[in-house]
Amino acid sequence: MKSIKLVKKLKGKKVLVRVDFNVPIKNGKVLDDFRINATLPTIKYLSQAGAKVILVSHLGRPEGAIDPELKLDVIAGCVSSLLKKKVNKIDTRDFKFKKEELEDLRDSLDKLRNGQVVILENIRFSPYETKNTGTLARDLASLADIFVFDGFSVAHRDSASVTGVADYLPSYAGLLLEKEIEGLEKILKRPKKPFVAIMGGVKVETKAPVIKNLLPRVNNILIGGCILNTYLGCLGYGVGMSLVDKKCEAILEKLAKKRKVILPVDLIVGDNRGRKVRVVKLGKKPHKICTGHEGIYDIGPESIRLFSKYIKKAQTLVWNGSVGYFEQKPYNVGTLSIARLVASRSKGKAFGVIGGGETLQAMKEAKMGEFVDLISTGGGAMIKYLAGNKLPGIEMLK
Ligand code: 3PG
Repeated sequence: MKSIKLVKKLKGKKVLVRVDFNVPIKNGKVLDDFRINATLPTIKYLSQAGAKVILVSHLGRPEGAIDPELKLDVIAGCVSSLLKKKVNKIDTRDFKFKKEELEDLRDSLDKLRNGQVVILENIRFSPYETKNTGTLARDLASLADIFVFDGFSVAHRDSASVTGVADYLPSYAGLLLEKEIEGLEKILKRPKKPFVAIMGGVKVETKAPVIKNLLPRVNNILIGGCILNTYLGCLGYGVGMSLVDKKCEAILEKLAKKRKVILPVDLIVGDNRGRKVRVVKLGKKPHKICTGHEGIYDIGPESIRLFSKYIKKAQTLVWNGSVGYFEQKPYNVGTLSIARLVASRSKGKAFGVIGGGETLQAMKEAKMGEFVDLISTGGGAMIKYLAGNKLPGIEMLK
């Protein structure tokens, strides 16, 4: 990928930067500013080099219509306070510009001071963002001299502001994008062994291809969460109310039979409110684990001990997905234990990478994120990358 660091003269240049500030907001407040914080190095780099920085992001899925709840004013306020510098939001409405409106906008952007940062309105208010039919990309490109892509977490979307603009402007990778790709490449192409992956969470249909792609590269994969429930379900275990993904039974059954795949040896079973909790050992033969009113909600103590043996020997670690229903106590024990084990081994003995919304949330609860080598901003994008897919947002920079 061509890095933005290759561009020598940024002073006075208008730089359109596609970031991903798709963050949770409640009552007018950003609940988690991790993605915004992670992008600050690129924004600061450009601003300090004297560029006029024009940020572009989406928020939610307004599907081409203006949704007042999804306007970027709150985001602009959050970026301003993190950057300690006023970032104005430019009201670009639904991006359907008349010729003279586009010229006015271009003029006002020309007048920005060197180093100034602004943000456009939610790009998904435009019906042409996800369709990527060409006009929006061309209009956006006409506002700037250079395009920087720094939103790894949206790199799997072939949208106008992700891939389209690159057809019209010299395009470069931002610092965050470079850091994330470098970390993920290290895992896929040259992992130090033993390489241990921990896979859990829901959306099994997206995780099964990751397991398949990682299997030849890893020494072991430790399995929990909905992936495990689905596997047990297809082996004929009575899994009660546990979350399972019926569509993926066949593929998981095949994958989970591989020697490298390590399954828990005991489970935490109970009701979905964290009551009537008990530990159940997994016997060799399929049997009834839980009654119809119960579900599998976590891995058990012996499994944590077993998983820790693998994690403590690893030199490369990748973790995606909780191993239990960690939002409900006491089912958080397994996932928080994994978080602590991964963080304790990373930045030292092992190169540790984590990604995915709930994984990041668990690491935040464990308060050990600072010890992890790479916390990827990408949920879906990271999964696609680890599954061996080419991401359009990355390919266009090559
Ligand atoms: C994400 O949060 O995963 C990215 O911002 C992509 O959002 P999307 O799934 O709505 O395209």
